[in-house]
Amino acid sequence: MKEAKLTLDINEKPPVLKWIILALQHVFAMFGATILVPILVNAAAGTTVLTIPVALVTSGIGTLLYILCTKGKSPVYLGSSFAFITPLAVGAVKAGVGGAMTGMMLVGIIYMIVAAIIAICGKDWIHKLLPPIVIGPMIMIIGLSLASSAVSQIGISAGTEVIDYKGVIVALFTFLVTAVTMLKAKGFLKIIPFLVGMASGYVLSVILGLVDFTPVLEAAFFSIPDFVLPFISYTPTLGAALTIAPIAIVTIAEHIGDHSALSTIIGKDLIKEPGLNRTLLGDGLATFVAGLLGGPANTTYGENTAVVGMTKIASVWVIGLAAIFAILLGFLGKFTALVSTIPNAVLGGVSLLLYGFIAVNGLKVLIENRVDFGKSRNVIIASSMLVLGLGGAAIGIGTVTVSGMSLAAVIGVILNLLLPKDDEEVTEEKVENKKEEKEEAKAEVVVENNKKGKNKNKTKNAKNNTEVVRVEKVEEKPNDNLVVLNHPLVEHKLSILRDKKTGTKEFRELVGEIGMFLCYEAMNDAELEEVEIETPIQKIDAKRLNEDKYAFLPILRAGTGMLDGLIKVIPNAKIGHIGMYRNEETLQPVRYFFKVPNGIENREVLVLDPMLATGGSGCDAIAQLKEEGVTNIKFLCLIAAPEGVEKMQKEHPDVKIYCAALDEKLNEKGYIVPGLGDAGDRIFGTK
Ligand code: PRP
Ligand code: URA
Repeated sequence: MKEAKLTLDINEKPPVLKWIILALQHVFAMFGATILVPILVNAAAGTTVLTIPVALVTSGIGTLLYILCTKGKSPVYLGSSFAFITPLAVGAVKAGVGGAMTGMMLVGIIYMIVAAIIAICGKDWIHKLLPPIVIGPMIMIIGLSLASSAVSQIGISAGTEVIDYKGVIVALFTFLVTAVTMLKAKGFLKIIPFLVGMASGYVLSVILGLVDFTPVLEAAFFSIPDFVLPFISYTPTLGAALTIAPIAIVTIAEHIGDHSALSTIIGKDLIKEPGLNRTLLGDGLATFVAGLLGGPANTTYGENTAVVGMTKIASVWVIGLAAIFAILLGFLGKFTALVSTIPNAVLGGVSLLLYGFIAVNGLKVLIENRVDFGKSRNVIIASSMLVLGLGGAAIGIGTVTVSGMSLAAVIGVILNLLLPKDDEEVTEEKVENKKEEKEEAKAEVVVENNKKGKNKNKTKNAKNNTEVVRVEKVEEKPNDNLVVLNHPLVEHKLSILRDKKTGTKEFRELVGEIGMFLCYEAMNDAELEEVEIETPIQKIDAKRLNEDKYAFLPILRAGTGMLDGLIKVIPNAKIGHIGMYRNEETLQPVRYFFKVPNGIENREVLVLDPMLATGGSGCDAIAQLKEEGVTNIKFLCLIAAPEGVEKMQKEHPDVKIYCAALDEKLNEKGYIVPGLGDAGDRIFGTK
């Protein structure tokens, strides 16, 4: 994972004053969402299910528990989860506040069970169950489903009959101040954009007469939050709990997504260290305790990722102090009353920026994990999840109703398990079997030919006692005319390329990329011409390549796959084509096309073909070029077999071979071992 440049690293403790201010900024940055969840749940349920003071206290306690469980190695602030708004409201209507709280505790227990299984069996199964194609759309749904709440806070939802222009002005002002602070502020102000934005929006609201201070005047300085406790406030029941429980799929997915996104931002893989089992345990314990005290369920917070991403402050010290402030603030009656006077428009201005980040994080999960939307299965999974998750779907099974996000999560998991993993892979596998059958038949033909004396190199296959073609392995000796790229990056790319699970798109890209590396090496002796240029500072004599002097000649078809990489680095080279295929029976090259640029004889020619197997195709292509008078030729391939190298060096000792790997041998069917299979078919997805 790429190291990230952080202003404050995970274990860095800032000086006291800065620490306090940063912690306040963190806790306030979370405010928009933390206090909004109780407000929205109550509005949806039509009764008081949650309160702001309890939400603050449970988010603080939850964060401290999380820090404890993760041994202070993960910079995450836990806050009220938006994923629970609808389930909590529905649960409370069905089974009262107690039923909703029991549901949340059950979700916490599910987290802890999953964490325990991961600790014992590892996390591979969870990745299979919740791969990026399920997690990405899930996080997008959570973010996008909040979009309308930000818009309604601003007061410009479609259908709003009387627009409160003062509110809209405040929201826009808050948004602009936050955005400008992010973009332009210097030093410390740059890392507290949300605090600056909210404070500015609040001041403007006071000036415009949008704030009513009566609740603050009436509130006590200190007050105990209204905790809702099991067996005291209610008797736990399982009915509504089962309706809420499926949401665990969503929030576990969100948890993994947030941690993956945060890992990228801070340059440390949190899924490995402290480990998914510990982060899930912390999150689960926090959610359980929230249910126990009557607060909203906790989540690892997309907003936290956004704030850490923007401020580059990943200090657990800052987050821990923010948690303590949240707990204390929950007991400050005057303060919570003051918070309740923050106009919706101010929250809307900040949310406009924050909620988008959640959805964008979902997109990032898809992009960073290279989810290929060229594959129909991915399109089907994401499409159905997005529509069900955002379209307000709900399915009742007995007393349990699965709706919205839960339904999208369940469907995403099921589709991912049921749909064929990879169309191409399945086809490849089938074709591989067919090919083997076909080639066994072909081997028999070769045996026949051998028997008739048509092939000189023959040997016995001890295993099945049939005669097969085998080309003698050449001795491995230092060779000036053979350059094997020896570089960790090339080795890395080759390992993906060789993998039979690698799909067409990635395979094609890798062939181009390795082609580029080969070109880089082959141009090592290139002659440069002197030119005079002027830098912004002064004139200098510089050196340039005369790109026009070069010609690239891919051998059709597979050679064209390498072309992309080469023309990226020498875009003005001329391009020709040599059409040739290898007869499957005799392994001899068959010519079918030849078109080269004018004046080819005066150019330096790079012949491209990913595979140098028996060497038949490469040698014949070069022979044709020599017939045209070309004298300056290099041969570039991804994988060479010793047999092909030997043939090339015998027939064209003047041609230098550049390859990314020199493999072990050819098999009885003329394929390179271990090789990568049929290059042409894998590049073009023809089998
Ligand atoms: C492959 C490969 C080379 C040739 C190498 O092409 O791209 O051109 O085999 O084998 P050789 O050195 O033993 O001749 P193929 O004949 O399969 O044609 P394709 O590129 O169209 O698939
Ligand atoms: N051609 C290929 O595409 N692959 C081999 O292994 C040999 C020849």
